[in-house]
Formats: sequence, C-alpha cells, structure tokens
Amino acid sequence: MSSPTFFPVTEDVAASAWVDEAKYKAMYEQSVKDPEGFWGEHGKRIDWFSPYTKVKNTSFEGDVSIRWFEDGTTNVSHNCVDRHLATRGDQTAIIWEGDNPAESAHITYRELHEKVCRLANVLKAQGVKKGDRVTIYLPMIPEAAYAMLACARVGAIHSIVFGGFSPDSLYDRIVDCESKLVITADEGLRGGRKVPLKANVDKALEKAPGVTSVIVVKRTGGDIAWKEGRDHWYHEETAKVAADNAPEVMGAEDPLFILYTSGSTGKPKGVLHTTGGYLVYAAMTHQYVFDYHDGDIYWCTADVGWVTGHSYIVYGPLANGATTLMFEGIPNYPSVSRFWEVIDKHKVNIFYTAPTAIRALMREGEGPVKKTSRASLRLLGSVGEPINPEAWLWYHGVVGDGRCPIVDTWWQTETGGILITPLPGAIGQKPGSATLPFFGVQPQVVDNEGTILEGATEGNLCIVDSWPGQMRTVFGDHERFIQTYFSTFKGKYFTGDGCRRDEDGYYWITGRVDDVINVSGHRLGTAEIESALVAHPKVAEAAVVGYPHDLKGQGIYAYVTLNAGEDPTEELRKELVTWVRKEIGPIATPDLIQWAPGLPKTRSGKIMRRILRKIAANEHEALGDTSTLADPNVVHDLVSSRMNRG
Ligand code: WTA
Repeated sequence: MSSPTFFPVTEDVAASAWVDEAKYKAMYEQSVKDPEGFWGEHGKRIDWFSPYTKVKNTSFEGDVSIRWFEDGTTNVSHNCVDRHLATRGDQTAIIWEGDNPAESAHITYRELHEKVCRLANVLKAQGVKKGDRVTIYLPMIPEAAYAMLACARVGAIHSIVFGGFSPDSLYDRIVDCESKLVITADEGLRGGRKVPLKANVDKALEKAPGVTSVIVVKRTGGDIAWKEGRDHWYHEETAKVAADNAPEVMGAEDPLFILYTSGSTGKPKGVLHTTGGYLVYAAMTHQYVFDYHDGDIYWCTADVGWVTGHSYIVYGPLANGATTLMFEGIPNYPSVSRFWEVIDKHKVNIFYTAPTAIRALMREGEGPVKKTSRASLRLLGSVGEPINPEAWLWYHGVVGDGRCPIVDTWWQTETGGILITPLPGAIGQKPGSATLPFFGVQPQVVDNEGTILEGATEGNLCIVDSWPGQMRTVFGDHERFIQTYFSTFKGKYFTGDGCRRDEDGYYWITGRVDDVINVSGHRLGTAEIESALVAHPKVAEAAVVGYPHDLKGQGIYAYVTLNAGEDPTEELRKELVTWVRKEIGPIATPDLIQWAPGLPKTRSGKIMRRILRKIAANEHEALGDTSTLADPNVVHDLVSSRMNRG
C-alpha cells in the first residue's frame, strides 16, 4: 500500500484553531489586497509607546527601502517581558532543560523581568548606549535570552554568534559590526562535552582591541584565563546594580539585531532586523502557525545562534506571553530518547525541530520513541531544510502517533519569520510541501530570465511585496543588500531557493539554486569553505559543492588542487579537515575531500560547478554539456577517481 499523500485538516483541529480554512482565505485576501489595512490592524498586537500613523512604506526598486510602522515607538523587551507582569507575572516564561537530564529550571515572567533589568543596568554601567553593538557567544542557557532582551532594552544591537563557530569566525563577526562588548560563558556543555567558549573569545579578541568588556557567565566553573579590567563575572556585576530599569524608547525602524549568515559569495553578511515590524511578524506567525494558545508548553529545539532561535524561542513566544522551553543539550544524549523524554517531563504541547534531527532519530527505530508517552503533544513543526516525505511520515505516524498536524515552515534568516507554511486548522498537509503562503506573503515563481510562471510549474522562488519581518539591509553595506536580493530579478526579493508549485497551488521547496549549501539545517557558503582551504599553505585551489547526504541533507564535498610538489597523502587530507574546522568551526567540517589535479574550467577560467556537483552526486551520466571546458580531460580524471571512492 502506498503512503497517504494528503492529510486533511481534521474537524477537531479546525474547530479549536485560531484560523480555519474560510478565515485563512478571507484574511489572506485582505492581507494582499489591503496590506495597509491588514497590518495597520495587526500591528496593534504589540504595545506601542506612541502609536504609528504610517503602516507600510516599502520599495523593492532602486535603493530598496523597507519601513514598517515607521513613526511608532516601542521597545521589544517591554513587549516580551514588562507587559506580561500584570497578567502573568507568576507564569513560567522559560523552562530550561539542561544538558544533564537532572538539571532544569523554571523562570517566571517576574524573574525574567528582574534578570533582564539587572543585565541591562550592567550593560549601561559598561558604557553600552543605544545603537552600540554587543556580541553574544553563549550556550543554550537562560542567560542567552536575558542577554538578547537586555540589549533590546537599552537599544543595543545584538549579534549572536553560534557556539560552534571558531575563534576566527567569531573574530570576523565582532570586527565587522565593531562590537564593544562580548557576553559569553566560561564553557558550554553539549552532550556531556565541554565547549571552550571563553578561551575562544580570548583568542578572537587578541586581534580585536575594540572590545573593551567581556561579561562571563559561570556555567561549568572550569578553569579559564582572565584579563583584569576587561573581563567581568556576570553574577558579580548583576548583583551590584538595581533590579529595575526603564526600557529605552525605540523607533519602529531602529535596529534590533544583526545575524550573520552565509551567501553565495564572500564573507557572511550581517542581516539586519529592526524593531517594530520584526516583533509584530514574529509574534503573529508564532501564534497562528503553531496555533499557540495561552497555557501551551512550546518547545523549539533550535539554538539561539540561528534565526529560528531568535524568532521562535525568544522573541515570538515571549511577545505572546508563552512558556518557551530552552534546551541546552542534543537529541541523542544521554540516549536517543532524550527529545521524547523532555516532552513527557515538561508536558510539551507544541514541538518544533529540524529534519536532520528527525532523520537521525528515525534511524534508531521506533523503540526509543514508543517507550515514551508523548500524550501532551498536539502539534509538530519542521524547519531548516526540505523534509523528505519518509521523514515526514515517520514524524507524523511515530512521534505524533498520527494525531498531530505537521507545520513544515519555510523561511530564512532574511525573512525574519515564517513565510510559507500550513496553518494547522486551515491547510491540509502534503508530506514534503511547505504548502501555502502566510498572510501578506506573495510568492512568485520565475524562470532564469525572470519570466513569471503561472499555475503548476517549477522555477526560482521570489516574493513580490514586503512583509513586516523582512530584513532591512546588510549591516554596513546596503549596496550588497540590493545586489544580493533585488538585482537578479528586478523589483522582486529573490530567495535563492528553487521551488515547484503543484496543481493545488502548494509550494515544494527544492533547495538552494545558488552556491549556498544546507548541512544539517546549517547554512554555509561554498565560497567561505573554499577560502578557508586555499588559506592552507599546501593548497593551490579548491572548489566546494554540496552533495546528497542521508542524514545531513547535504554534505560538504571539497575538490582540492595541491601546490606543485605536495603529496596528496591521507595525513594531509585529515590535516585539511582539521584546518577548516579551525578556520570556520566544526559545522563546516568537509565530509569528502577529493584530490583534483585540475578543476573543470571554462576557457575564461570560471570553475564549472554544475559539473562538480554532478560528479559529487555520482551522477556521471548527467554531466551535461562539457564542450565549453578548457580541458575536457580534467573531468574524466575527476570522474574516475570519484568512482574509485565508491
Ligand atoms: C532552507 C532557517 C525547505 C531554504 C529558517 C532556505 C527550507 C534556507 C525550509 C534558510 C523548509 C528553511 N523547507 N527548505 N521548511 N526552511 N529552508 O537562513 O533553503 O538558516 O533558503 O533560515 O533554509 O536558512 P536559514
């Protein structure tokens, strides 16, 4: 029997959900026909110190300017914390589940308020002012949320760097946005292993004199180096200051955060999100996509180092007064039942994770899942990469016992929040499809020449008009913003993703069409990995492509040409792997390195990646046109050595 390919909305879900099918259609129609009216109304879901009179002022043409609610003033920290004190001060805001299953904590909104205020006062005491940049390099501990909210409170722009990035990557991100303060921990703890965060910060700061203070959270109590005058213990400083702090009045378009992300060229760029529109969009999508109701226990397994952690662990849920679970650990520690045990322990109702985790746990069979109850679960979510139908069906049937709708949410660091997704009470699901656009989102599929494709079709995914959560610029480089997103298809936001639209209008994201690869849901630019490789003294040239990988979605395949006279030894292969881990971080570890005496190039010297992708994927018959190659023999050599590897 073949697997079902359509999961209709069930009556009970439709009856209890915020939005059913009729309401989705009506709201969607209003949102695209009358964005001013629609967002003018929904913008009121957050508190404004002074209300906006202008709603939308956006253009994807020329200089590209995106402004929402521009004359309103507010503060994100006020909205995520203070405004809940009167009604839910004693409700848990954050459930923290430690790496060690014996450790967990509940933080109420009132406690959150005090923590955020104290840290805000510490930032001020360290001289941080509105508009200053603060880098956060923390593990998944509540202090990460406090740090984000404290920055928002004083009007500082935070830039979180994922703990899996190396000192060099951290250095690049600190220098690019000229941070003056770094918040870190002595060590992180993941899967029982320690991560030397403070030591990494020390290394990064050797070359970054602009950073004058480092605030250090004591997480493990491990030995660390200390620089008097620069380094300060979090627990000591927060004890010295007042427990209250008045939030800064921020304009809707004042920056909230920078988050570095990989593109097809150059170094990672600082995606800039602002205050009002971002928060409205994060909160609204959190409510409708996850059908969040008061009292629900909500768990997103992402790390705050990625955009998913920003919008759907911290800002969206807390703006809605939710209870959000923060997990320090990993899915398979101490056992592969950990996710399901945490769900039972904290009675999680809404669970949001990534396909790579689902695939890894699926490999362990049903046993580790079935020995837990999971009776509290009502809704499941997926994000980060396309979810293959097998994993979707396993997630639905085994994890959700066939009872929970799955929201496959497509979005990007740049989009700030979810753009294409089922709404559980309104949109039936097809395994592998992100289904239909959220309110205000107008997708368009175009061919490589930019011709608009109608009906059932396949092509490049663009969005034709602005939504409030959209990034506003690349920090410090607006020209790069215009070039990257609005020049390929003039007047449209180009996502970099390919997609198919079926006869029901459902969208199926097929993956990146540019030189970005998605490894276990982590976004990496092939150019970054190539420049790390060629920085090695023995490497002459390198080309990196993604290839299909059972667990990770995509793996990293590197073709390396050595300098004349260098021996392609197994030892050197290992050394290069270690080298890339050091240059970028463990998430960029190459899966396969193939020695390439030459790379396939056009006569003008351009590397033909299309061919390298096919060779990496073992699709040798489908190499396509190789007639424009300067030296066709190069390809034969690469194919035969690829085939020898199996
Ligand atoms: C991919 C993560 C298919 C896509 C929120 C996008 C997805 C990139 C999905 C952004 C999904 C994310 N289905 N593909 N549900 N979600 N992607 O910036 O290629 O880390 O462009 O944001 O991930 O990755 P980013």
